[in-house]
Amino acid sequence: MTLPRLSFLGTGYLGATYAICFAELGYEVIGVDVDRAKIQALTGGRVPFHEPGLDDLLRRNLAKGRLSFSTDYADAANRAEVHFICVGTPQRGDGMGADLTYVEQAVTQLAPLIKRRALIVGKSTVPVGTASWVEQLVAKLADPALGVEVAWSPEFLQEGFAVEDVLRPNRIVAGVRSAWANDLLAAAHKGVFDLAATEDREVPLVITDFATAELVKVAANAFLATKISFINAMAEVCEVAGADVTQLARAIGYDPRIGNKFLQAGLGFGGGCLPKDIRAFQARAQELGAGEALRFLHEVDLINTRRRGRVLHLAAELLGRPVGPAGPDLSGTRVAVLGAAFKPNSDDVRDAPSLAAAAALAAAGAEVRVYDPQAMANARRAQPALGYAESLTDAVNEAELVVVATEWAEFRNADPAVLGGLVAAKRVIDGRNCLDPAQWVRAGWTYRGMGRPPA
Ligand code: UGA
Repeated sequence: MTLPRLSFLGTGYLGATYAICFAELGYEVIGVDVDRAKIQALTGGRVPFHEPGLDDLLRRNLAKGRLSFSTDYADAANRAEVHFICVGTPQRGDGMGADLTYVEQAVTQLAPLIKRRALIVGKSTVPVGTASWVEQLVAKLADPALGVEVAWSPEFLQEGFAVEDVLRPNRIVAGVRSAWANDLLAAAHKGVFDLAATEDREVPLVITDFATAELVKVAANAFLATKISFINAMAEVCEVAGADVTQLARAIGYDPRIGNKFLQAGLGFGGGCLPKDIRAFQARAQELGAGEALRFLHEVDLINTRRRGRVLHLAAELLGRPVGPAGPDLSGTRVAVLGAAFKPNSDDVRDAPSLAAAAALAAAGAEVRVYDPQAMANARRAQPALGYAESLTDAVNEAELVVVATEWAEFRNADPAVLGGLVAAKRVIDGRNCLDPAQWVRAGWTYRGMGRPPA
């Protein structure tokens, strides 16, 4: 079987990762984006964001001549038979629904340029109903004689593990309308299935209608967000009952029906996906008349936000500062915040709980110094008013309180005895429950975790 040629429209995090990994699987791939700077970086062999392993794959596949990038949609139309839409679907101005402007722009630019039968496959996370709308758009804009079709195949990749998640996905889901689209989509993933076969694995292919494929993605993210907020709700109860949520999570996680993943209590979830997706999902369900079914997601969101505020109150408690009607007063205190990325192994600071906590501490009057191993440039851009440090030691120097806000290995493995020699007072808030309390207490620190009794 000759492999179809693929285009990826939008070379942000999703599109660039897919384009590079599918070239690695042996496909001829073109990535298209209207952002000239992104295309220049990728063409020059530089991934414009932090994702472990991706730079090497980019350079290797550029050198092999299988991978190219362009700002011209005509290049995608001329060179590929399967076009993946990978553009962003940010939160709308109303703070709830998804903005589909970029999806519309990508389809509007591509469809009239297509010269042969082709499949347009949506990958972006969208409100249910979008695939049918894209289909109507394509019917209006593409030459009707060509039989251009639409399919929807959501992605499930996690930042920090994206290369693995694309090369070795745990499933492929596709909403298709015809046997032709089904076969072409299978051919477009042949590399993934072949790799699995050589490793004695199987990748399930779940073929659905459009609406189900769209819903699978948001349902999966809603479930993950709910699981995190569930354990954070338990953390709240543990705090007033004097129990330890880490032991609780471990104990319930042994039940295979519950499972031990995504039960890490802490500052809660952030990033460009979970917070935005649960809001857009609620907005869409409301539009469809099923708002009540997802009302619990509002609670999931509230629990998540409350965890960020918990740090502020713990800080006041540890520093012995008063809590007035306007909240804690931390003026004149010096606080080191370790971590800016929304999770480790990423430089993404979108809706990062760490930066939100840092901003809240600063708003309460603390002199905050933030350090992150990868996300400094993005953090400075997102929160220019915060104080920043160039290194871990620089951040904790003379600090009266250290807050671990992202569980980077550099912080988990830091020696509390060494850090203890640098700070003004040995107080630590473990916002991700990623440190060993006993080790820190032995080194003379006052330790407070999330949902745990004081150590
Ligand atoms: C998430 C999903 O996990 C992916 O499957 C999905 O494809 C992706 O969104 C997307 O929609 O594109 P991602 O945003 O990369 O992936 O991050 P996660 O690993 O899910 O973490 C999300 C947040 O939850 C992070 O802030 C993390 O610190 C937090 N988290 C995670 C917890 O607080 N506790 C946990 O136990 C797990």
